[in-house]
Amino acid sequence: MSSSSSPHVSASGARLLFDPALVPSSIGGRLPSHIVVRPLARDDHANAHIQLLSTLTVAPDLSPETYEARFDAMLASPETYFVLVFAHKETGKILASASLMVELKFLRDAGKVGHIEDVVVDPECKGQSLGKIMIQGLSELGMQRGCYKVILDCDAKNAGFYEKCGYRNVGVEMAIYKQ
Ligand code: ACO
Repeated sequence: MSSSSSPHVSASGARLLFDPALVPSSIGGRLPSHIVVRPLARDDHANAHIQLLSTLTVAPDLSPETYEARFDAMLASPETYFVLVFAHKETGKILASASLMVELKFLRDAGKVGHIEDVVVDPECKGQSLGKIMIQGLSELGMQRGCYKVILDCDAKNAGFYEKCGYRNVGVEMAIYKQ
């Protein structure tokens, strides 16, 4: 992946996963002044992104090279991966992260469905509406990208949180794991 694949760069000069102009303007106005919203950047391994993800689920640390390779693989599928982060303005530390994946369909007149995954707020920042601002903003982004709906799976203990974000329970999650 050449560095020319993305024209969008962060303040530190790192490539961004998508055009920051796509970040709904409604998000920034709702965040406290010490937190900024932006697309994931290629150097976010250094901003404790994996450390934050490890508070959600199994997320062993990656080498910076492996992190960048995964970032590049996402970047190579434009209009598909939208990982949004809230970062501390001064330290750069990522305080919240969530992913929107846009799936192309044949049905619904060649429609699109958004999938929200890997939603996590720094344990020290929970209860400050960051999760709600993130989900509502990412859902808005999904609609802006042409999705006719945005869906997600979650534990029953988090259903109330997503209801506060405007979601409703429409089914049952099924899964099969590699043995
Ligand atoms: N159950 C019911 N209501 C909740 C819950 C919950 N588990 N968590 C928060 N709320 C309510 C809050 O009280 C608040 O209500 P209000 O608007 O009336 O004041 C509202 O939901 C918004 O809460 P936030 O402060 O925005 O929530 P927070 O920033 O703490 O983020 C989150 C919530 C993302 C679940 C956070 O606790 C977290 O990171 N948990 C660990 C990781 C996790 O479980 N992530 C979800 C995985 S599912 C997925 O990725 C699709």
